[in-house]
Amino acid sequence: MEDLEEIKRYAKENFVPIVRDKTAEELCRQAGKCQSILEIGTAIGYSGLLMLTCSQANLDTIEKDDGRAHLAQENFKKFGYQARVKLYNEDAYAVLERLVEQNKKYDLVFLDGAKGQYIKYLPLIKRLLSGGGTLFADNINLLGLVKGEEKVPHKYRSMVNNLRKFINALESDSDFVCRFYDIDDGFVICKLKA
Ligand SMILES: C[S@@+](CC[C@H](N)C(=O)[O-])C[C@H]1O[C@@H](n2cnc3c(N)ncnc32)[C@H](O)[C@@H]1O
Repeated sequence: MEDLEEIKRYAKENFVPIVRDKTAEELCRQAGKCQSILEIGTAIGYSGLLMLTCSQANLDTIEKDDGRAHLAQENFKKFGYQARVKLYNEDAYAVLERLVEQNKKYDLVFLDGAKGQYIKYLPLIKRLLSGGGTLFADNINLLGLVKGEEKVPHKYRSMVNNLRKFINALESDSDFVCRFYDIDDGFVICKLKA
């Protein structure tokens, strides 16, 4: 059995952003209760492998970067998980639209792709969650910039604005019950009412 720590080390050495440790612990806990998981933002498969290890679930996961998707596929194989994983090496929005058309449903959606796109994905994710399903979105504090009072550097401005819209949308949607965590880079766990 391959070691998750090795994948983590590779990610760090190669500047691939992966879920942080305390967030990973909570993600593992959430995944453990699920049969079907959708992940947006595979990178090299670290969080996917974690969720597969913590559960008996099947995983659909989306990564647009060819090199990362290839490495992720290799990693899923090395762990012997290929039968439980479907990797879409495509843009997430197009895949989400297709999954909605196919009437797919997931117990858990782990949202960890482009931070500026979370708000755009939300209506599709809502349609993909089973009743009582869980949305877990990472990096919602984005280096402290989302809640901060100080001027946001130009390169983060649209990302931060879109994350604020995403948080407002979750807070004002009575179909979701959300809890926000100021742990690592901030994450939110929302349950869709059954
Ligand atoms: C934070 S990383 C994912 C880390 C991974 N979940 C983990 O913890 O191991 C975000 C990934 O989303 C991918 N991504 C960004 N925009 C995307 C898009 N529009 N469609 C699909 N993947 C995208 C990036 O290439 C990157 O690998």
